[in-house]
Amino acid sequence: MPEQIVILDFGSQYTQVIARRIRECHVYSTILRYDTPAAEIRAMQPKGIILSGGPASVYAKDAPLPDRAIFKMGIPVLGICYGVQLLAHFLGGKVEKGQKREFGKGTLTVLDSSCPLFEGLPSTLQVWNSHGDRLTRLPKEFGVVATTENSDYAVIENRERRYVGLQFHPEVVHTTHGREVIKNFVHRICGCGTDWTMRNYVDQAVEEIRSVVGKDRVLLGLSGGVDSSVAAALIHKAVGDQLTCIFVNNGLLRSREAEVVQEVFGRHFKIRLQYEDASDLFLKRLRGVTDPERKRKVIGRTFIEVFQAATKRAGEAKFLAQGTLYPDVIESVPIAGNPAALIKSHHNVGGLPKRMKFKLVEPLRCLFKDEVRVLGLELGLPREIVYRQPFPGPGLAVRCLGDLTPAKLEMVRAADAIVVEEMKASGLYYKLWQSFAVLLPVRSVGVMGDERTYDYTICIRAVESQDGMTADWVKLPYDLLEKLSNRIVNEVKGINRCVLDITSKPPGTIEWE
Ligand code: XMP
Repeated sequence: MPEQIVILDFGSQYTQVIARRIRECHVYSTILRYDTPAAEIRAMQPKGIILSGGPASVYAKDAPLPDRAIFKMGIPVLGICYGVQLLAHFLGGKVEKGQKREFGKGTLTVLDSSCPLFEGLPSTLQVWNSHGDRLTRLPKEFGVVATTENSDYAVIENRERRYVGLQFHPEVVHTTHGREVIKNFVHRICGCGTDWTMRNYVDQAVEEIRSVVGKDRVLLGLSGGVDSSVAAALIHKAVGDQLTCIFVNNGLLRSREAEVVQEVFGRHFKIRLQYEDASDLFLKRLRGVTDPERKRKVIGRTFIEVFQAATKRAGEAKFLAQGTLYPDVIESVPIAGNPAALIKSHHNVGGLPKRMKFKLVEPLRCLFKDEVRVLGLELGLPREIVYRQPFPGPGLAVRCLGDLTPAKLEMVRAADAIVVEEMKASGLYYKLWQSFAVLLPVRSVGVMGDERTYDYTICIRAVESQDGMTADWVKLPYDLLEKLSNRIVNEVKGINRCVLDITSKPPGTIEWE
């Protein structure tokens, strides 16, 4: 078990960011519900505890409170925003009710530079504050380390007990040197080393998979996306030919997708690959379906059916592997005002029916996406797979508006291939969250050579995003847009017009359906 820091989640929108920042310091971190019993936390032997921020007020009737026995564990505690109020609440300070919690920039002045949290840092920092309830009396045996324009108690500390409270968010990018503050906490205050690396994780995970799987067989649905690809490479390293990957061609894949998967996993990694070409079935079922929700449902249902049949053909197996990631596992805290608790992803292609009688193997369950990518490289997967942009489970179906026909799918597939090629050539592909083509069910008049045309429209969509929840449209260079438009209209038969989507999310979604 690696050394770890436990983060108690009080419903902050940044809890996962805190966890990622800690792991960037090569220290493992685990997010737990705020009310996890201290005995359970103690059993995990963490080197320190972080109390996340949160939208609540310690005064509220049902304020989320931790098990007070965590203050008897003798390990360092870092309270962020609401976490400071908790320190005060439990350790004899005083908090005054403020307005609604909101954020704002501020300048932090460090008064006590001997505080290990600020070692090696300048004495003034730009910070992202949380303005809500205010500390008006220090908890017992605490001293002031730093102030801001609005707060005399911006950073407080009890050095002997190794407790620190911050009124600002060190985890958000707007706080300059925030990463160093977190680094100082985990290394200098908690005394953690740097043993959390993907190189170490490979050994640990391989051992674990072997001990769980034994001599049994494992099946894995390989989509060609980052998560299932990395899971496949990892499990294959652990149990070799006991793993069979099932790859379903639903007829909605990108250009050369099926070939690339067979090349990389079949020929290069020599992973047992069962290729299921179900494109005719999918397209038959989708004929005449125009409603986006119905499309998704038809695709989801058909996938399960095809996959189930494929697992039967694959022969007796005890385990089913899935590329589930940590953010899918973390239980969101149901506190009013916590956006993470409200936003539920509307799509989950991984959800296979419970009645499938497999035991699950989920070797990426404790990893964040960026860690999965590093792990993929560690395992020797090509960068094209490890850094590829997300691609929705229902594939090109949600990028081909209206009814789907083989001809239309071919148009959007060809246009998409051009977008990917040009984005890669421009160096932008790996910098963006997504960039792709959408086929609009709109025909318009054009002229090509001497001929009048009446053809379809391709829309180019390029967005920047951290997690797909919100996104900004990207101002692609004009010469790149010109090249894209020229190539798409000249090379893709049936397209005579190219437009650009300049909508961010919200109010738009990233995909068009
Ligand atoms: P939206 O369109 O909701 O997309 O803004 C957010 C992110 O999710 C991806 N997406 C999907 N992924 N199955 C998936 O596996 C789906 O049905 C699906 N719909 C959207 C989308 O590509 C974007 O990255």
